Amino acid sequence: MALILGLESSCDETAAALVESDGTIRAHKLARQEEAHRPYGGVVPEIAARAHVEMLGPLVEAALEEAGVTLDQVDAIAATAGPGLIGGVMVGLVTGKALALAANKPLVAVNHLEGHALSPRLGDQSLEFPYLLLLVSGGHCQLLLVEGVSRYRRLATTIDDAAGEAFDKTAKLLGLGFPGGPAVEQAAMRGNPRAVPLPRPLVGSGEPHFSFAGLKSAVARAVNDYSAEDLAASFQQAVVDCLVDRTRRALTSVTVQPSALVVAGGVAANKAVRGALETLAAEHALRFVAPPLWLCTDNAAMIAWAGAERFAQGLTDPLDTPARARWPLDPDAEKVRGAGVKA
Ligand SMILES: Nc1ncnc2c1ncn2[C@@H]1O[C@H](COP(=O)(O)OP(=O)(O)OP(=O)(O)O)[C@@H](O)[C@H]1O
Ligand SMILES: [Mg+2]
Repeated sequence: MALILGLESSCDETAAALVESDGTIRAHKLARQEEAHRPYGGVVPEIAARAHVEMLGPLVEAALEEAGVTLDQVDAIAATAGPGLIGGVMVGLVTGKALALAANKPLVAVNHLEGHALSPRLGDQSLEFPYLLLLVSGGHCQLLLVEGVSRYRRLATTIDDAAGEAFDKTAKLLGLGFPGGPAVEQAAMRGNPRAVPLPRPLVGSGEPHFSFAGLKSAVARAVNDYSAEDLAASFQQAVVDCLVDRTRRALTSVTVQPSALVVAGGVAANKAVRGALETLAAEHALRFVAPPLWLCTDNAAMIAWAGAERFAQGLTDPLDTPARARWPLDPDAEKVRGAGVKA
């Protein structure tokens, strides 16, 4: 059994966790920075990086104390090495390197997206490779065939905005505040999902990818004609329809039989999204797996777990491993057209 310390600092959550290789979470600590960013309506990279510097040390200490262990009893230190806001990534990775050097422990440099992608196996270790993963977060919207640890085949990605980004921009347009996804979900509960006619970009299209920019623009055009609740509900329904249609296409075109349909990333915390994907999986007689809500948004338990999976395979990294703003899970995937293309 190995005990892994995980560090996360790629966006606006600072987190430290201790996870064992059998999936036992010994401690997880997280500090949000919402209040610091709220006046700006979005994450300010410089403010985020400075907050990570202040918070990470105390969170590591608190995690070790909660687990009742010292750094000497940890087997490896896993830190997010990208992708993300580079200042924040550097804080977490340099902290991980310093702890690894001081305690003479191996470093595991974790791709934050691999943290999301393997997080369903932390909650449910009976989940076997390969599985079809819909990764829907603030920066990404991808369908991936997860063939194993560090083995990903990207089947689809967004040609413009990520789904979480669309939630956040819609929340801003509707005056629902920051962070946007949960606020839109709350408002949607009081609205009519059929009230506002909104487009479903690329639904039914022969190409595999996602697009959300046109949907966001349509919300902007309708903003004076409908209530925020009806707009939120109609927007959320349109996103759900896009996600389901594109995932259905992937399920029917993928050449190997996946063991399950899996959803991960911040938008996977959305109950309408989870419910619709569960129905889709049932239609295909497939198991559906979604991590518990707290494991969907950024946290260090998923980083420690990805570290544990990599460590078990002997995958450790040198202390000169660089921090990376961009780091695709499938480096062989072809580039897709469109501005602002995500990895
Ligand atoms: N209940 C919800 N409904 C819809 N969206 C949500 C919900 N909860 C969180 N989100 C969205 O999830 C995103 C945050 O997820 P996550 O923390 O995984 O993203 P990130 O780390 O910023 O991006 P990435 O993982 O791609 O680098 C935000 O865009 C947020 O609006
Ligand atoms: Mg994330």
